[in-house]
Amino acid sequence: MTATVIDGKAFAAKVRGQVAEGVARLKADHDITPGLAVVLVGEDPASQVYVKSKGKMTREVGMKSVEHRLDASVSEAGLLEVIETLNADPTIHGILVQLPLPDHLNSDLVINAIDPAKDVDGFHISNVGRLATGQKAMVPCTPLGALLMLRDHHGSLSGMNAVVIGRSNIVGKPMAQLLLGDSCTVTIAHSRTRDLPDVVRGADIVVAAVGRPEMVQGDWIKPGATVIDVGINRIDKPDGGTRLVGDADYGSCVKVAGAITPVPGGVGPMTIACLLANTLTACCRANA
Ligand code: GUN
Repeated sequence: MTATVIDGKAFAAKVRGQVAEGVARLKADHDITPGLAVVLVGEDPASQVYVKSKGKMTREVGMKSVEHRLDASVSEAGLLEVIETLNADPTIHGILVQLPLPDHLNSDLVINAIDPAKDVDGFHISNVGRLATGQKAMVPCTPLGALLMLRDHHGSLSGMNAVVIGRSNIVGKPMAQLLLGDSCTVTIAHSRTRDLPDVVRGADIVVAAVGRPEMVQGDWIKPGATVIDVGINRIDKPDGGTRLVGDADYGSCVKVAGAITPVPGGVGPMTIACLLANTLTACCRANA
């Protein structure tokens, strides 16, 4: 059997199209334009690429895009001042502080300074608690994108066994909460899990978010299971140059799984699409 390859690029384009329609309707009916502010501290090359791409796609769906680029040496007080200004700005509905921050800045403190209603990353402690207790929350974009792909492929996820490999605050933990919310039986596995291949073999849904290139092997996968690969790892090619790979070994998993997301072109494009969807949601809630 060869797995169905879930096309994240096409699905993300569809979601962005729906967001663009919502933005146009808000403009026509209420003369409101959603605004997203991205704050980037320092010169991390990967972060710069993400931020540029976020700005471009924000404008493409008709939203206002604002970028604040701060020097790597900015003080915590300086960064908090920028966040306070954005919190108070009625034309800004979403605020994203690109992570990781330089070591001298306390990420938790900075994230929790964002108005939870504008926290389109869903990282504020209040949104984390809301998600965990089933209240209306801003939901982290990568796990939200993965959930939308799973729902699109399966319809109902109720009763399925889901194994999330990885326990990060950004992906693993919120992913587990979302799957639980959709009535899956959820296991969170991680680098210390005993007999990981056996744990994964029990899964109807495997979410690989562990940050280790090509770790999940085809013979760990229950035939017909769905593999959602959240990993983005750059590895050296034997003949020079580099290539992007996920946390699952695509070549062996695609032969066993029922469905799989590729890297690149799987979960990745869904993250920015969901960021835009969250910004539209935040704008609608602010003006409800
Ligand atoms: N860095 C890597 N992923 C993310 C994300 O989803 N949000 C933010 N703010 N920073 C990131």
